[in-house]
Amino acid sequence: MMLRSWAMIRLAPTTTTATNLCVRFGASSPRKPRVPLFLRPLVYTTTIPDLQKWRSWARNLALSVGSKFVELDNGPDSHTLCREVEWLLEDAVEGYDARLRQTTATDSGGTCLRMRAGLGELYCLWKERVEQRRPFQYVVGCEHWGDIVLSVEEGVLIPRPETVQVVELVDQLCSADQRFREGLWADLGTGSGAIAIGIGRILKGRGRVVAVDLSDVAVAVASYNVERHGLQDIVDVRHGSWFDPLEDVQGKLDGLVSNPPYIPSDQISGLQAEVGRHEPLSALDGGQNGMDDLLCICRGSVTALRPGGFVAFETNGGEQADFVANFLGRNNFCNVKVVTDFAGIPRFVTGFRS
Ligand SMILES: C[S@@+](CC[C@H](N)C(=O)[O-])C[C@H]1O[C@@H](n2cnc3c(N)ncnc32)[C@H](O)[C@@H]1O
Repeated sequence: MMLRSWAMIRLAPTTTTATNLCVRFGASSPRKPRVPLFLRPLVYTTTIPDLQKWRSWARNLALSVGSKFVELDNGPDSHTLCREVEWLLEDAVEGYDARLRQTTATDSGGTCLRMRAGLGELYCLWKERVEQRRPFQYVVGCEHWGDIVLSVEEGVLIPRPETVQVVELVDQLCSADQRFREGLWADLGTGSGAIAIGIGRILKGRGRVVAVDLSDVAVAVASYNVERHGLQDIVDVRHGSWFDPLEDVQGKLDGLVSNPPYIPSDQISGLQAEVGRHEPLSALDGGQNGMDDLLCICRGSVTALRPGGFVAFETNGGEQADFVANFLGRNNFCNVKVVTDFAGIPRFVTGFRS
């Protein structure tokens, strides 16, 4: 997909922010997001025996791991890695199916299989996955998140399954109160654009989302994902620190969501290698007790939201969630709730601006 050098995003004239907003691209931002493997053209070929040889090699490398990574840092085991071999082949090989998985499959006709990457590249990618613990999502360039597929690459956090719940909380609110569906939303620290895109789909063209990130890579990848999902008239991606790019919408936001960096600095070194070695520190490290960015966003939300506006924040869970809830309750928010995630951990905090 080609990215325009300047994307003019026009907010609906009926909203309180009827402004033409420009997302600067290309000229000032040399970053071109990587195209995920499954979207690359089918310009390579291989034979069934060569593919099977590659698959056996990749599985053997996966099997050699055993439970080593699990014991080391709760990383992936052989079983998980073998499953990833199949996913990698599904993305790379046209029509990859159960028949091609059979090591006994014969190919008397010398069929040519079309591929999106050559076997040599797949060899390097799989070695990086196992030997350098490069996250699978960076290897294939995408993550299946909820019911959407998002492009990801180094420099952008891989969106986590639990974060889908932030979108679900917004969905529930919009179903209960149409004003929110027609409203103006902000997603602070948008990363791949996951939450902003999730909310953009809920608004069904009636409301708007401003998605902010300080990272150039995140802004480029989020913009690419927004375009791929056809939401460029709904989600406006802006570069900058937290509330800095939101001056024109101060006091007008109907909703504000964020999944900011919240891991305490001293826990970073203990993270799984896939996370600690490869995901951006600026997306993870929330300072001494993990609360630096959460508190900054809580404080800014008071003036950014209109009275009655809604917030939903993701936290590290437990004490952090309680702390954020207390903070909001003491600072002009009402109906503050802590919401548990799918694993039963109190993780999200919601509330309304008094
Ligand atoms: C935990 S990640 C969340 C990404 C995405 N929202 C998600 O849920 O997958 C936090 C994001 O905040 C961004 N970030 C960190 N500091 C920031 C700042 N001062 N202003 C804006 N974004 C910031 C990071 O670049 C990163 O993309």
